[in-house]
Amino acid sequence: MIKKVLVTGGAGFIGSHLTDELINCGYEVRILDNLSKQVHGKEQKKPTYLNPKAEFHIGDVRDKQAVQYALNGVDAVFHFAAMVGVGQSMYQIRDYTEVNNVGTATLLECLIEKPVKKLVMASSMSIYGEGLYKDSNANLITECERELEDLKNDKWEMYKNGKELQPIPTSEDKKPTLASVYALSKYDQERLSLITGKAYNIPTTALRFFNVYGTRQALSNPYTGVLAIFASRLLNNNPPMIFEDGNQKRDFIHVKDVARACRLAMEKPEADGEVLNIGSGNQYTITYIANQLAEVMNKDIPPEITGNYRIGDIRHCFANTSKTEKVLGFTPEVDFKEGLLELAQWLKGEIAEDNVNKASDELAERGLTV
Ligand SMILES: NC(=O)c1ccc[n+]([C@@H]2O[C@H](COP(=O)([O-])OP(=O)(O)OC[C@H]3O[C@@H](n4cnc5c(N)ncnc54)[C@H](O)[C@@H]3O)[C@@H](O)[C@H]2O)c1
Repeated sequence: MIKKVLVTGGAGFIGSHLTDELINCGYEVRILDNLSKQVHGKEQKKPTYLNPKAEFHIGDVRDKQAVQYALNGVDAVFHFAAMVGVGQSMYQIRDYTEVNNVGTATLLECLIEKPVKKLVMASSMSIYGEGLYKDSNANLITECERELEDLKNDKWEMYKNGKELQPIPTSEDKKPTLASVYALSKYDQERLSLITGKAYNIPTTALRFFNVYGTRQALSNPYTGVLAIFASRLLNNNPPMIFEDGNQKRDFIHVKDVARACRLAMEKPEADGEVLNIGSGNQYTITYIANQLAEVMNKDIPPEITGNYRIGDIRHCFANTSKTEKVLGFTPEVDFKEGLLELAQWLKGEIAEDNVNKASDELAERGLTV
């Protein structure tokens, strides 16, 4: 029986909500987190939102001793500690590879010595690259890419033989198309965990999160979390900055739903050895998201559509959730508008440093925007 659970990265956005979910369901939780500056600020203070019932260890997942110590007496592990951000990963290649790939390898070596009853790791929709498409004859298109020439001419949609393709929900069997160092590291984390889990009889599940939103997402981190980035712009009375034409579609899922799905993945043996999409199945354009957020925040600030393209960005991706529904018996419960209202309420008490221009300049300087 699982009693005590380790959550690496448990001081972060998703990990802290998962900690609450586990404690509310009667589990004991230990957190291992290095309180990275990018997420927790220069002072690296333990966040006030952390559940007081959780045991907190400050430490790095790359540090074998810290991981070994954190694993003492633990029955299950959620591996969430990671550097998160597609654009930034394209120049901080070493840091991303060290924390994400080597960090996971370190944890796995420790787990060989101290096996647990379950390992759940956080993967990402980013590994798909573009989502699935179909052509006008309903043929499935599993691999496609946009031409730079088209993008330079503001031709944003996906075409094959001159004909526009229709995006459809992406299922777990879509072949990964790894378009960034971050995506590569998440895929590596996923495979490392599943391969090692199988070899050493550690039941393992990889969860491919889509766009997660909700309270506690780091507002001053300009590298990740589109809604948090838009919120930080709006809190500073700046327009959300949107790439391309704003009609790219994504799948947003509330963090409390994600936390519940994570707990179910730990509890259900049917999830052992599986890879599962954790999304809502809904598809919203980025412009719609920016407008909805401005509305709930009572800000009359329309987004700025830049018409720029970020190298490695995809056009559309949203989840096919049928496998997850079947395996976990999970369907999301938080309505998008209600989730946004809760986020807006939380934002009222928050101060956000708007670092978006700095992050955009960093990409542009390196030729990573077109
Ligand atoms: N937020 C999303 O929409 C999303 C989508 C797909 C996948 N994911 C994945 O989910 C996981 C959690 O993401 P999040 O949004 O909560 O991110 P987050 O940045 O809020 O949390 C990550 C936590 O990991 C910690 N951390 C970073 N490096 C560490 C290290 N070397 N050692 C120990 N701790 C370290 C940070 O201090 C932070 O508290 C990540 O693995 C991420 O790749 C998130």
